[in-house]
Amino acid sequence: MTIIVTGGAGFIGSNFVFHMLGKYPDYRIICLDCLTYAGNLSTLKSVMDNPNFRFVKEDITNREAVYKLFEEEKPDMVVNFAAESHVDRSIENPEIFLNTNILGTAVLMDACRKYGIKRYHQVSTDEVYGDLPLDRPDLFFTEETPIHTSSPYSSSKAGADLLVLAYHRTYGLPVSISRCSNNYGPYHFPEKLIPLMIANALHDKPLPVYGKGENVRDWLYVEDHCRAIDLVIHKGREGEVYNIGGHNEMRNIDIVKMICKELGKPESLITYVTDRKGHDMRYAIDPTKIHNELGWLPETKFADGIKKTIKWYLENQEWWETIISGEYRNYYEKMYGNR
Ligand code: NAD
Ligand code: TYD
Repeated sequence: MTIIVTGGAGFIGSNFVFHMLGKYPDYRIICLDCLTYAGNLSTLKSVMDNPNFRFVKEDITNREAVYKLFEEEKPDMVVNFAAESHVDRSIENPEIFLNTNILGTAVLMDACRKYGIKRYHQVSTDEVYGDLPLDRPDLFFTEETPIHTSSPYSSSKAGADLLVLAYHRTYGLPVSISRCSNNYGPYHFPEKLIPLMIANALHDKPLPVYGKGENVRDWLYVEDHCRAIDLVIHKGREGEVYNIGGHNEMRNIDIVKMICKELGKPESLITYVTDRKGHDMRYAIDPTKIHNELGWLPETKFADGIKKTIKWYLENQEWWETIISGEYRNYYEKMYGNR
């Protein structure tokens, strides 16, 4: 089995590469990643010498290069993680989100049509469903919830999802889609809530909480997400969407306070800053379908997962210090300087 994993130098993609190489020693895993600011080759250093692994630095929107790779590798499956993934960046500059997330998806699927494939899997997000009100804890996103996006990021992911389903209906491409809630764990880029707060707290820097910090996200440990995708690509039905989430809703402010407590830092570091434009209030996944059909359940409780994650950031300081001392400094100044 040969699988092309796009975006495998990013947060979830790299965790998926490790999961697959560890679990299936006879699979060949090809990571296709153009190494944007979010991709990091040092993340993959432990597998670079693995004979079953190949890294290819290319852009998924480069049709010629993608076709060449398909000709060389004749993949059985493609799992597409490659994306621009940060909502705040999409608010600043939507265009690259449309290029990578929608047009890149089309290029990959065209290659699948041309060369044949057993499964094309699209890694999507619960953000395509928009948000839920805080005063209706009885409501959850199911696979039938209408697409109703808020940000350029979620709109680009929804556009890609629609295209994936259209390629299934029109061309009979064997596709599947998973829509997961917020992930956390090792190799999470420090622009996102949890690693940003850990890194800032360790530097005794202000912890910038948007608005009142009451927004709710449904957090899942990244390995649980990887196991779910593994199940969907092997056992999930073609043409189907599977929601992935572990019923772990948390308010942002409570997460930030938990991080302060774990690191022994004072809550006085917390600084309330101007809210994100169009900020989604609450995400909450109903994972009944993937549980009933594929037997998936999350294994890591948030209380354990957050401890493991903080420990990883403490033990791998060089990984994220290198990131935040580079180009990221300009990003941080631009986004948080006058907030
Ligand atoms: P990330 O930003 O950490 O990594 C994205 C990776 O894609 C990087 O390695 C980057 O170099 C690569 N990439 C970007 N544009 C590319 C292009 N044009 N060609 C080739 N490679 C390119 O993202 P992540 O958090 O790991 O998310 C991975 C996927 O999972 C995304 O599709 C995202 O929408 C989805 N998702 C993320 C979350 C989350 O909580 N992080 C939750 C649900 C779904
Ligand atoms: P984020 O990690 O960007 O994920 P997403 O927007 O895709 O859910 O943000 C998670 C939540 O944390 C979201 O409600 C925005 C909030 N947030 C802050 O309060 N401060 C920050 O500096 C960041 C990056 C996010």
